[in-house]
Amino acid sequence: MRAIQIANLNGPDEALELVDDAPEPEPSHLLTPGSGVLVDVHAAGVSFPEVLQTRGEYQVKPPLPFVPGSEVAGTVRSAPDGASIAAGDRVAAFCALGGFAEVAVSPEFLTFPLPDALDFAQGASLILNYHTAYFALKLRGRLAEGETVLVHGAAGGVGTAALQVARGLGARTIAVVSTDEKDQVAREAGADEVFRSDGPWKDEVKEAGGADVVIDPVGGDRFLDSLRSLREEGRLVVVGFTGGSIPEVKVNRLLLNNTEVIGAGWGAYVMSKPDLNRQVGAEIQKLI
Ligand SMILES: NC(=O)c1ccc[n+]([C@@H]2O[C@H](COP(=O)([O-])OP(=O)(O)OC[C@H]3O[C@@H](n4cnc5c(N)ncnc54)[C@H](OP(=O)(O)O)[C@@H]3O)[C@@H](O)[C@H]2O)c1
Repeated sequence: MRAIQIANLNGPDEALELVDDAPEPEPSHLLTPGSGVLVDVHAAGVSFPEVLQTRGEYQVKPPLPFVPGSEVAGTVRSAPDGASIAAGDRVAAFCALGGFAEVAVSPEFLTFPLPDALDFAQGASLILNYHTAYFALKLRGRLAEGETVLVHGAAGGVGTAALQVARGLGARTIAVVSTDEKDQVAREAGADEVFRSDGPWKDEVKEAGGADVVIDPVGGDRFLDSLRSLREEGRLVVVGFTGGSIPEVKVNRLLLNNTEVIGAGWGAYVMSKPDLNRQVGAEIQKLI
């Protein structure tokens, strides 16, 4: 089959190589040895892990060359007995690796029916972004209807998903972005208000009443101002560090303002919990 491999670790411009003789996967996934859904891939998502993998900077480091691609959308070629999906179904699937290929394999519990409302490209960006958003907002951040959510990196993959899921859960949304173009993307994703990361966004958020939950995939310098923009009992949910540096917190701030910092690592939490993935998948279907 055709596939795109990572052949060296020189970064995204040089590391990728198109081959037409990669072996097709067996219906067996690393997370469910001996069992797996084979998917004829129509679209594959590209996100942060793949970029990091081209530089050897991701936590999972398979021997070279390997086929990257953590998630896909396509049609089921074969599914294990008892699976909720069957051959021919349109699906979104999280495969962790191997998605940049004509055929990929995913665990049954991370393979979800793709609603008619979504095309394959949308399906290929569904799981990593939207499951993470739901996990961070609801399961870790304990978001309640009527609360206010501040989303950093709000025009990115996790950011746009967090805006949409927060809106779907009945929250008011504030986006922080770096450019006019991203301002527009955030508004289209459902931001009620948008502030610029190079402006006085902390004061603007406070003037707007403060945030109950902050979703932070960026980290770096803005962390302290995120804490300052929280309301009493507010929660800052740590999702990633695209800004480069890992912030530190003086915990007296949490004591003085009765706030929390919460980690949200979707993959580490959900991979060993099949039923939780099915529940989150069902919640996302409702929101779609
Ligand atoms: N915890 C989890 O379970 C989990 C799950 C999925 C992804 N993640 C992580 O979440 C982060 C965001 O992923 P994503 O797919 O949403 O990425 P993305 O689509 O590239 O968006 C990242 C956003 O970060 C902001 N940013 C600020 N400084 C940046 C820099 N130096 N380089 C790149 N972007 C920068 C940008 O927004 P502005 O320009 O508007 O600031 C950008 O839109 C990544 O670190 C990823 O690994 C974590």
